[in-house]
Amino acid sequence: MTTAPPEIDVTVRRRESAAPDVDVFELVPVDGASLPGWEPGAHVDVLTDAGLERQYSLCGDPADAGAWRIAVLREDEGRGGSRWIHENLLEGGRVRVRGPWNHFAMVEAPRYRFIAGGIGITPLLPMIRAAEAAGAAWTLDYAGRSRACIGFLAELETYGARVRVHASDEGARLDIAGLVPAEGEAVIACGPRRMLDALDEAASSWAPGTLHVERFEAREVGEPVRHETFEVELMLSGTTVEVTPEQSVLDAVEQAGVFVLSSCREGTCGTCETVVVEGEVDHRDSILSPEERDANERMMVCVSRAACPRLVLEL
Ligand code: FES
Repeated sequence: MTTAPPEIDVTVRRRESAAPDVDVFELVPVDGASLPGWEPGAHVDVLTDAGLERQYSLCGDPADAGAWRIAVLREDEGRGGSRWIHENLLEGGRVRVRGPWNHFAMVEAPRYRFIAGGIGITPLLPMIRAAEAAGAAWTLDYAGRSRACIGFLAELETYGARVRVHASDEGARLDIAGLVPAEGEAVIACGPRRMLDALDEAASSWAPGTLHVERFEAREVGEPVRHETFEVELMLSGTTVEVTPEQSVLDAVEQAGVFVLSSCREGTCGTCETVVVEGEVDHRDSILSPEERDANERMMVCVSRAACPRLVLEL
């Protein structure tokens, strides 16, 4: 089981608009202590008073141990987390956060092609700054409805021609199907599901390991490999549970009284990541890369299932 990072009470030191409906929150610890270190690609869970947990990428400077920055897109049609944050988290307000987690660590590569759609720019900002500081070759394709509605453009435009904006209202659509990465280039992307699905499809003809994505929305998955009940042995707890077709592994484990830290329960945050000791997994999460799924070493127990009659997990 992944060791949970600490929960920290923070205050909003500053809040400012980055784009229509996108606000940046600068969070500082209530006790004035230093915040844990983090690397580009990391996120934190914001634990709202409304009982909702939401994940937000850290988009500030990893070298700043005094403050974390997150950007929150208000989604009125969403499940309520971003609306709660926009309405309740004012300057001077307090909230608890858990983190940092990092399931989207920046890979080492001789050159990078960053691709962002809308709010998906947030985990890429620290990566772009790190690539720039390291003198690496990089470009960014940044897609959105219009220049007016995509955030952080003023900062990004200082990089000149390496940043290409694809605004739909200007008819400048990003041609994902025609994208051909240079040899050794890492393609690192975050954005809406449609964009990432198109990249997944395009990447099927690229060298393995070229594409790295972070999804804020769960990917489409087909039918489970098995429709029957299966067994899961919890090695550390010394117990075995049955998982029916209607249950998730997480549900069954919790019903057996074994605690697993979880947050999104839809395979996008990585909080419930669990070590697989034995058995084939039907990976249904939106985090692991195809290579990581093939390695079969970890699974997200909130959505992934068994592809065999029995799994053994390090729980
Ligand atoms: S709880 Fe978020 S991936 Fe399982």
